[in-house]
Amino acid sequence: MKPTDLRGILQYIPLFRDKTFVVEADGAVVTHMNFANLLLDIAVLRSLNIRVVLVHGAAQQVQKLAAEQKITPSNLDGTGVTDDATLKLSLTAANGLTHEILEGFATNDLRAANANVIAALPLGVIDGLDHQHTGTVERVDTEMLQTLLSQGITPVIPPLGFDGKGNTYRLNSDAVGAKVAQALQATKLIFISTEDGLTCEGDVIRQILSSELEALLADHGNPIPPAQQSKARHAAEACAVGIPRVHLINGLVTEGLLAEVFSNEGIGTLVFANEYRHIRPARKRDAASILRLTREAMDENQLVERSEEMIEENLDDYFLYEIDENPVACVALRQFPGESTGELAHLYVNPMHGNQGIGRILGEFVEQTAREAGLKKLVTLSTQAFSFFSNKLGYSEGTGDDLPEARREEHSLQGRNSKILIKQLT
Ligand SMILES: CC(C)(COP(=O)(O)OP(=O)(O)OC[C@H]1O[C@@H](n2cnc3c(N)ncnc32)[C@H](O)[C@@H]1OP(=O)(O)O)[C@@H](O)C(=O)NCCC(=O)NCCS
Repeated sequence: MKPTDLRGILQYIPLFRDKTFVVEADGAVVTHMNFANLLLDIAVLRSLNIRVVLVHGAAQQVQKLAAEQKITPSNLDGTGVTDDATLKLSLTAANGLTHEILEGFATNDLRAANANVIAALPLGVIDGLDHQHTGTVERVDTEMLQTLLSQGITPVIPPLGFDGKGNTYRLNSDAVGAKVAQALQATKLIFISTEDGLTCEGDVIRQILSSELEALLADHGNPIPPAQQSKARHAAEACAVGIPRVHLINGLVTEGLLAEVFSNEGIGTLVFANEYRHIRPARKRDAASILRLTREAMDENQLVERSEEMIEENLDDYFLYEIDENPVACVALRQFPGESTGELAHLYVNPMHGNQGIGRILGEFVEQTAREAGLKKLVTLSTQAFSFFSNKLGYSEGTGDDLPEARREEHSLQGRNSKILIKQLT
């Protein structure tokens, strides 16, 4: 998809306006040359009134500083032991990165602020091992975050926390991202790393229900690679505490953030807390969205021309396929009095969501609905998608005689010379 496709983006605006997205970017992403593009993506989100909080990691920079200073760090990402020397490195690395991010925001005319919002506790002794300066998030100062967000300021949160006595702790940025998202009841948590998402046996998992991810992680042969474990666990945990969608994307992909947010089928992995795609009958007021959805296909003669009034008159025939409450595809099942043949009509899938199986799902849905209505045969007329119906849905070529009588005259009047396809339902 083209993420900059304005029409594609427009349909999501009412859904996301004034909602909060928490973006967690690994240190390796922040210093990559594509980070400037990522900031531009964030600028687009801000301009659409989406409230963005940016949490960042620092593992790569800790490693780099350690190599420069010939120190062996006790841990890189805030999950293991943080000794005195590693804490010092973490402070330098994290503060340097926060500064770089703020510079980037300033360059893009965006207001941002270093937000000291994480109260931390020492992780303590685990299995006999003292984790020293490694901390765990105790509390998130949501009031400060809300104040910044309400002023149009993007809070930037480093992977550090403080306790009431002024001690600093190194935190894992995935954990910080998940806790901040939970505290703000964010609509999305977006983990940005240098990986394409979560993988299982070498393949990127495009979408996974959080309970299924939990089951994979709990499995003895846990198939998620070690480098992805932390994000996978925090993604599942975030869903469990009420974040509906967690995305894991590669920050080195240009316009990747926009592509992920504005397509739902995305570029990485989507972990979701509940089913978000469904087919529903069209309701009053859907005629306008069906017209908007199919306008281009009608202009290109892929679909028969229908006005909003015509769609409205036959609204009972229509079904919409929605993703996150946005109609991205439609289909109609026409029935003719006294006839056992129905017509599958006006099947259309927004190209942004093409080749994801939605056309087939709607085709099969119409077949099932037709069977339940006692129909014995389906016909469909197509000028440019006849091979879709024959190859993907098992239709065969028919003739004018296969059409219900009431449809024959209409067909010849339309003069589109479309192919007639039929499918026996029994
Ligand atoms: C035809 C259409 C409904 C397919 O929807 P979709 O959600 O992209 O299809 P699916 O994802 O279920 O299937 C994709 C497969 O169908 C094939 N396909 C898609 N459009 C096709 C077309 N017009 N002709 C032939 N095959 C097509 C794809 O190549 C893909 O094949 P693969 O699985 O071998 O890779 C959609 O392209 C569309 O809306 N077209 C314009 C409107 C139209 O012609 N509607 C039919 C008239 S009623």
